Amino acid sequence: MRTVLLGAPGSGKGTQGELLSQKYGIPQISTGDLLRAAVAAGSELGKQAKAAMDAGKLVSDEIVIGIIRERLTQPDAAKGYILDGFPRNLAQAQALDEMLAALEQPLQAVILLDVDFEVLMKRLTGRRTCQVCGAIYNIYFSPPQEDQRCDKCGSDQLIQRSDDNEETIANRLQVYQSQTAPLVDYYEAQGKLHKVNGTDEVTEVAKHIGQILETAM
Ligand code: AP5
Repeated sequence: MRTVLLGAPGSGKGTQGELLSQKYGIPQISTGDLLRAAVAAGSELGKQAKAAMDAGKLVSDEIVIGIIRERLTQPDAAKGYILDGFPRNLAQAQALDEMLAALEQPLQAVILLDVDFEVLMKRLTGRRTCQVCGAIYNIYFSPPQEDQRCDKCGSDQLIQRSDDNEETIANRLQVYQSQTAPLVDYYEAQGKLHKVNGTDEVTEVAKHIGQILETAM
């Protein structure tokens, strides 16, 4: 199964990607997570990416396409994957199509998580992520059962992402509108786009995506 999760910041790509990864036993490949890991490790790539991420802009195509090219050749991606946050503009989408054509493994489905912009700001400012296991919470919609403690691994390291402040979120949403939203037409023209109401409950969204993927495969 080769799937792309498309959607604005806060639309639920990470949340749904994690559920799909568990359900189908294939990796969730998030360029955001890979870039944050590079920043945390202080690598040269991380240093190059940090300024753009802090500003809510896109990291250069050269860097992210390179990351994806390398990641897709890892053994765990052989049976399929869920791409979360890639592609994010036309150049990345075309590069991905070329990569997959060379492997004779085209994308099977692109899921668009559709959420109104007013909801996104609250979702993003309220997001907390477990620094140990990556579990995602929201202080407004889905808080952990015990205050400041991860339900899954018990860690007390629930952090707010540095780009989840109102100013950077506004930039990220604007970048989504101008650079990523045109991919909706791109994938619709390929007959691969499936739109899902991302404002439903997490379990409902997951159910809907599952139904789409069962018929698309
Ligand atoms: P990235 O990490 O990809 O961030 P993003 O696209 O802005 O998306 P988010 O992770 O913020 O949101 P999400 O859709 O995953 O939502 P989530 O499930 O967490 O990218 C970060 C940065 O890296 C970019 O700005 C850029 O600089 C760089 N970058 C990454 N990829 C790049 C690329 N390809 N090219 C260039 N640069 C790149 O949910 C959000 C919140 O909502 C959570 O609190 C969650 O609990 C809650 N929630 C989720 N679903 C629901 C629901 N159904 N109901 C109620 N609450 C919900």
